[in-house]
Amino acid sequence: MSADKILVLNSTGKVGRNVCRALVEAGYEVYGTTRSHKNTATTTGVQSVVCNYTLRADLDRAFAQTGAKKVFVITDYFAAAKKNADLEFEQGRAAIDAAKAAGVQHLIFMSVADAEFFDEHVKHVHAKVALEKYLHSAGVPFSILRPCAFFENLDDAANWNPLKKGVVKFLSLQNCKYCATYDIGRAAVIQLKDPDTWLGKSLDVIGWQGDLSEVAKALAKVSGVPVKAKLAMPIFLRRLFLKDLHHMFLYYEEQQGPRGTPEAFKKILPDALSAEDWFRFHGHYSNGEKIAANV
Ligand SMILES: NC(=O)c1ccc[n+]([C@@H]2O[C@H](COP(=O)([O-])OP(=O)(O)OC[C@H]3O[C@@H](n4cnc5c(N)ncnc54)[C@H](OP(=O)(O)O)[C@@H]3O)[C@@H](O)[C@H]2O)c1
Repeated sequence: MSADKILVLNSTGKVGRNVCRALVEAGYEVYGTTRSHKNTATTTGVQSVVCNYTLRADLDRAFAQTGAKKVFVITDYFAAAKKNADLEFEQGRAAIDAAKAAGVQHLIFMSVADAEFFDEHVKHVHAKVALEKYLHSAGVPFSILRPCAFFENLDDAANWNPLKKGVVKFLSLQNCKYCATYDIGRAAVIQLKDPDTWLGKSLDVIGWQGDLSEVAKALAKVSGVPVKAKLAMPIFLRRLFLKDLHHMFLYYEEQQGPRGTPEAFKKILPDALSAEDWFRFHGHYSNGEKIAANV
């Protein structure tokens, strides 16, 4: 039945892979976009659709080819939009307009928790705020997910932060709110299965909070190896070279943002992953070695 088909945009990224996994586990027929012709979708049970998710013509073809009437929309300021918020907005708008033209019955848009509360230097959230607004008048049934920092940032070799045995690094040592991208997928399932509750609504995805020493303790518990907590770079370099992210972290550090809590999210998803759960779920260091010695 086409109603149970779902198209996931950018399905090979940190979010897409685990959103696909959660949707497959929930019984959906999952189609995932990738620009690659080599069928690179790494999630078991996902059918790859060759599509550049930033191009309207590709999106129209993907909807026609799959017959999906549900879609998970991701936009990306840093890679796909090349650090241009206007371009990210146009890419997101193309996805929303393509979904409307295809008669999509439920679009899930991934935004960012508290996107409207960061200062003006946090440019990677500008398009998210504008796209949330656009969705309200676009004429396609939608729900919004607003995740906080991903646990996946703790093992992100592409951004010079591979997870290695005995050390965990992040851009802040202070208290931070985290979520697993898998829980973004599980939250999407909750919204898709209960449109009466979730159409037109937003949900903050916040699974756990703690400072980096608590993250290190969680990894030590799972790995059985002592773990040091370290800054991925000194704060003065963060301020100089990562202005956008620096100001995002200032909102976390100085204003304890985002405002949502793990307690609130767990009322919707009671078994949201903690740091310890996430290290078990993730399972391996960046070099492929298993984290837990006894599995
Ligand atoms: N990191 C966080 O803590 C955090 C928290 C909240 C929200 N977010 C949001 O999450 C989004 C990023 O998602 P993600 O981390 O899943 O992304 P990601 O892992 O960086 O996505 C990587 C994929 O993007 C595709 N891609 C790369 N360059 C592209 C281009 N020029 N055109 C089209 N596709 C391209 C590639 O797929 P193919 O090669 O297969 O096509 C690649 O596999 C952003 O909007 C960010 O604001 C992040």
